[in-house]
Amino acid sequence: MGRTSKDKRDVYYRLAKENGWRARSAFKLLQLDEEFQLFQGVTRAVDLCAAPGSWSQVLSQKIGGQGSGHVVAVDLQAMAPLPGVIQIQGDITQLSTAKEIIQHFEGCPADLVVCDGAPDVTGLHDVDEYMQAQLLLAVSNPGSPCPPLVPLGHLSLGFTLSHLSCPQALNIATHVLKPGGCFVAKIFRGRDVTLLYSQLRVFFSSVLCAKPRSSRNSSIEAFAVCRGYDPPEGFVADLSRPLLDHSYDPDFNQLDGPTRIIVPFVTCGDLSAYDSDRSYPLELEDGSGYKYTPPTQPPISPPYQEACTLKKKGQLAKEIRPQDCPISQVDVVPQPTP
Ligand SMILES: C[S@@+](CC[C@H](N)C(=O)[O-])C[C@H]1O[C@@H](n2cnc3c(N)ncnc32)[C@H](O)[C@@H]1O
Repeated sequence: MGRTSKDKRDVYYRLAKENGWRARSAFKLLQLDEEFQLFQGVTRAVDLCAAPGSWSQVLSQKIGGQGSGHVVAVDLQAMAPLPGVIQIQGDITQLSTAKEIIQHFEGCPADLVVCDGAPDVTGLHDVDEYMQAQLLLAVSNPGSPCPPLVPLGHLSLGFTLSHLSCPQALNIATHVLKPGGCFVAKIFRGRDVTLLYSQLRVFFSSVLCAKPRSSRNSSIEAFAVCRGYDPPEGFVADLSRPLLDHSYDPDFNQLDGPTRIIVPFVTCGDLSAYDSDRSYPLELEDGSGYKYTPPTQPPISPPYQEACTLKKKGQLAKEIRPQDCPISQVDVVPQPTP
């Protein structure tokens, strides 16, 4: 595949490089802001699951331009430095990381918490659901050295496990947000997403679901935009207590059928904005000419680095697929270890 082919297929990838953003995701946050004016009056913000850092770039430019802004960015992966952004490398499901984030906002809470996080998916739904459940349980059992096993599929709460990185972020948000603050989080619009909305509505006066133009239609990704942080009376934020237990919401069990919460769905980004599901020619505007632009900031320590080095040296073992072997040899083909 040529180095320009992705520029053709993914116009936001290309524009991100040309505009100096570290990732195409920058456009998602920019289009959300166009619609909801997320950054108005914001001086302190948290970017959860921030690497490689395009949302932090947007935040630091929009709210930290005068040097007065305060952005804290957190990710499992190392991230190249960004001016005006405090970086924490850590797992947001770990108590130690959550405490480190919270201490930056003690006495001076945040106006905005954003979270674009999703655990790596394997494509095997049961495994992905299981891993996400472990992410959730790591929060609910901060002292436990080994998270307990959970059944696959649905939790006893009646909540599918497909969008659980959001509640962890929500738990952190309840510690750092000021009243009236805003929380924006990536969600997957799975079958039970209405339950997630109902939970968010417990903490925010307005919750809606937004799909920026730069987020592919073919993806079930969307963003919960929660405004007006207003926790229930008597609520005490507690990192050791998962918000998913619904004990803050006595009416939770009645959220079925016609009484379930339906939040507005808003597409954002001008209709004339590029369509993320289309392929575009390399010359976007007539006569503008095409010039290849390298990525703004390649990942500094990606998990696949070793494989890339081995490949360059021609030392990466080629995978042997059973279908490539004569039938007589299939039995002796080494099988991948589970
Ligand atoms: C889609 S990327 C975020 C892109 C980012 N918003 C940007 O604009 O550059 C998702 C990130 O979530 C991070 N992540 C996933 N699970 C995490 C966890 N438990 N704690 C911290 N970061 C996590 C991944 O390392 C990955 O960098």
